Amino acid sequence: MSQDAHSYSKPEDCVITHADFTFRIDFKNETISGTARYQIRKSPSAGKIVLDTRNLDIKGVTDSAGNPLKYKIGNTSPFLGAPLEIELNEKATAIRVEYTTTRNSEALQWLSPEQTAGKKHPFLFTQGQAILSRTWIPVQDSPGIRFTWSADVQVDAGLLPLMSGTNPTGLNPEGHYHFEMKNPVPAYLIALAVGNLEFRSLGKSTGVYAEPETIVAASYEFADMQNMLGAAESLYGKYLWERYDVIVLPPSFPFGGMENPMLTFATPTILAGDRSLTSLIAHELAHSWSGNLVTNKTWDDFWLNEGFTVYFERRIMEALYGKAYADMLAVLGYQDLKETIAELGADSEDTSLKLKLEGRDADDGMTDIAYEKGCLLLLQIESRKGREAFDSFLNNYFGHFRFTSINTETFVEYISEQLSFTPEQLTEVKRWIYAPGLPVDYVSPRSERLEKALKMASEFSSGRVPAEKIDTSQWSSHEWLYFIRNLNDSLEIDQYSELDEQFGFTSSGNSEIKFAWFMKSIPSGYKGCDAEVDRFLSTVGRRKFVLPLFKMLAKQERLNQHAKELFIQIRNSYHSVTANSVDEVFGL
Ligand code: BES
Ligand code: ZN
Repeated sequence: MSQDAHSYSKPEDCVITHADFTFRIDFKNETISGTARYQIRKSPSAGKIVLDTRNLDIKGVTDSAGNPLKYKIGNTSPFLGAPLEIELNEKATAIRVEYTTTRNSEALQWLSPEQTAGKKHPFLFTQGQAILSRTWIPVQDSPGIRFTWSADVQVDAGLLPLMSGTNPTGLNPEGHYHFEMKNPVPAYLIALAVGNLEFRSLGKSTGVYAEPETIVAASYEFADMQNMLGAAESLYGKYLWERYDVIVLPPSFPFGGMENPMLTFATPTILAGDRSLTSLIAHELAHSWSGNLVTNKTWDDFWLNEGFTVYFERRIMEALYGKAYADMLAVLGYQDLKETIAELGADSEDTSLKLKLEGRDADDGMTDIAYEKGCLLLLQIESRKGREAFDSFLNNYFGHFRFTSINTETFVEYISEQLSFTPEQLTEVKRWIYAPGLPVDYVSPRSERLEKALKMASEFSSGRVPAEKIDTSQWSSHEWLYFIRNLNDSLEIDQYSELDEQFGFTSSGNSEIKFAWFMKSIPSGYKGCDAEVDRFLSTVGRRKFVLPLFKMLAKQERLNQHAKELFIQIRNSYHSVTANSVDEVFGL
C-alpha cells in the first residue's frame, strides 16, 4: 500500500465515505464558519480517525447524536499543517466537526470589489490542489481517499455561490443554496466560488458562469465547448459527471484552469477574443477522465493526472481543428519541456515522472515534466503499438479504474498486461518513469506551420527581412508565440522597437503573446514595455506568468530594486499560491 506523505490520515484505520457540509460565508470578517459531518468506515480495531487541518480554528467535535468526542490537535509541520485526531468508540459511524477559517486559510482568496470586473461586489474563491483543502475544511486531504458530499451554503443575498457539484443558475432570495456531488472524489477537488455571477448556456450539458461584465466575451470564447465534450466522449467513453460548466474568475486566479468536477475554474486571461487559447478548456475537460475519474493516488504520481490530460487535450483539439493545429500545441509543449529540463538539470530527480516529494511541499513537483514528459511517454507508447490499440487501451483504463485512485506501479502493471508489452518495452517504459531526463530515442513532435514561423524568426533576427515584410496573414496566436520565442537573444534594441511598432506586442490582447514578448524583450534592455509589465503584474495573478516575470525582472540590474518594491506593494492582491512562490525570488 502506498502511503501518502502529504496527509496525516490513516486510511487503513478509518476513512471518510460521505460528507455533509454547511458553510456560512462572511465577507465582512473574511471567514467561513463551517460544519463537516462525516460518515466513516473504520476497521474494528481502530480507535480514532485522523483528519488534516492547517490554520483552522476547531470549535468542537461530536458524534452523530451530538455527544462531544475527545480530540487532540497534534504538532504543526510546514506545508502539512497539523493532524486532528478524534477518538472513536467501537461502533462509531459518523462524526461532526465545527470550525471557522482564519486569516491564514491559504486556499481562500477574498477579493475586494476593485479586484473584480464589475468593481461593485466582493468575490471569494478556493483553490484546493495540491494540499490546500485542509486550510478551509478539516478533512482527510489525500488524493487516495474519495467520498461523496453535499453542502448547504449561506451567502449574502445578491451573491451567487457555486461549487464543484450540482449548481444553481440563478439567485435564491434568502441566499441559501444546496449542492451535491454524487460521485466519490478526493478532497482536493472540493471548490467554492462566490460573487456577482451570471449563467449562459452553451449547449445541452455545457455552460459558462462569469461576472455580467465578462459573460458575453466568455460565451463567445467558449462557443465550441459542447463539441469538445462530444469529441472527448467519442474518444474515451461517456462523460460521467452530468454537466460540464466553466466559471471565469477574476484575474487574480493563480492558475490557468482547475478541473473542479462539474465546474472548471478558469482565468480570464484565456479570453483572447479569437478563441485561440481554448485548448486550456479541452485540458480541464479531459481531466473529467484523467484526474477526476482516475486519480493519482499520491502527489508522487502527479504525472498520471497531467501527462494523460495533456495527451487527451491534444486529441480533442485534433478531433475539432485538425492535426496541423494539434501539432502546433505539441511543438510548443515540447519546447516547454526542453526548457524545464535545462532549468532543472537533465540528471535532476525532479525530471523523473515518478516523483519523490516526501518532506517537501507537494507543489514543488508540479512542473512541466509531469505534463509534457508524461505526454511524450504516451505518444511513444502510441507509436510503438499503433493509435487504434492505444485508444482501446485508454478506453479500458478509464473504465477499469473509474472512481478510484491509483499509483504509477498499478498503471505500469495494467498497461503492460493490456498491451502485451515485451520485456524490452516494459524496460523502456520504466526508464521513462523512473530515470531522469529524456531517453535517447523518441518521436519529437513536428509542426510545418511552426517551422515557417521559425524561419521568419531567424530571417528577421539576422536582419535579412524587415518586420514589415514578414507575411503573417495566415498566422494563429501559436505561430506568433513560436516566432517570439525563437527570436535571437542578441537582437538590437532597435529591432525590438521595430517589431513592437509593426505588431503591437506590448499592447496585445493575447496574454500568452504578451507574456512571451515581455520575457524576450526585458533582458534586452528594451524599455518600451516597462509600464505595461507593471500594469500586467498588478492585475494578473496567474503564477505561470507572474513568477517567471518577477524572476526575469529580478535578474536585471536596471529593474531589480523596482521589481521588489512593486511586489511588496501588490503582494496582498495575489492568491497565496502565487504570493508564496514569488517571496522566494526576493528572499522574503
Ligand atoms: N490541475 C492543474 C492545475 C494545478 C496543478 C493546480 C497543480 C495545483 C497544483 C490544471 O489542470 C492545469 O494543469 N492547469 C494549467 C493549464 C493547462 C492547459 C496546462 C495552468 O493552470 O496553467
Ligand atoms: Zn491539468
